[in-house]
Amino acid sequence: MATQRPMTVPRFMAAKETGRKLTMLTAYDFTMAEVFDEAGVDSLLVGDTMGMVVQGHNSTLPVTLDQMIYHAEIVCRAVKNALVIVDLPFMTYQVSPQQALENAGRIIKETGAGAVKLEGGANQSKTIQALADAELPVMAHVGMKPQSIRKMGGHGRIQRDFDAIRTDALAAQEAGAFSIVFELIPAGVAAELTAELTIPTIGIGAGPHCDGQVLVAHDMLGLTSPDFSPKFLKRYADLRSIASEAARAYVEEVQSGAFPDEAHSHQ
Ligand code: KIV
Repeated sequence: MATQRPMTVPRFMAAKETGRKLTMLTAYDFTMAEVFDEAGVDSLLVGDTMGMVVQGHNSTLPVTLDQMIYHAEIVCRAVKNALVIVDLPFMTYQVSPQQALENAGRIIKETGAGAVKLEGGANQSKTIQALADAELPVMAHVGMKPQSIRKMGGHGRIQRDFDAIRTDALAAQEAGAFSIVFELIPAGVAAELTAELTIPTIGIGAGPHCDGQVLVAHDMLGLTSPDFSPKFLKRYADLRSIASEAARAYVEEVQSGAFPDEAHSHQ
């Protein structure tokens, strides 16, 4: 059912108490943001996955703050109800809480977004606290952290260290994060921590017991290569095939002279 009222940070947090599952999809452009907002998605994440699915890089590391601001401003212009959350990209918050404040402040001021997200828990607790103290709503992200690709040696590994994940999640909550993404952790771990935490957990590859779910739009719409097929990913459409068939039909019709016909020409 479509969201009737604009989603705010307090409403997002309150969903945990009522047990209403939260929905989040990534969005990077006006049209897709408009479609998802009209469909009633609670929150749109202008994720730094933009570097991979839009820009074609093999990690999120090259994405810049100015690029995130550019896309976030476009998404915010399309949205009527969804809470727009914007990723702080790699090395725009890791240097110091001061750096994070300045860059998160730019995101909120220049885009109209409702919140920012950063990767980390215990290691970012000072920064989360500085943002929360400045009344900049911040979502944390623990488990598999794509910006740590160099340290991890690759994407996509399930994170199984319960104590480390718990320490991160509790530290993020304690520091003032309003919500937390769990990426690629076992469903049982996510269930236990979701029950323990008072802030909503949003899972991607973290099983059904999180307070909400997030997927990368290009993946769930079936736009990304079929070679990318992690176990957690459900494709709700096959837009890659549909777009490819449409483009082939267009090429054929233009070449054969079937398009434009009379119905598509001005007299
Ligand atoms: O950047 C992103 O899209 C994300 C999601 C995978 C949660 O952080």
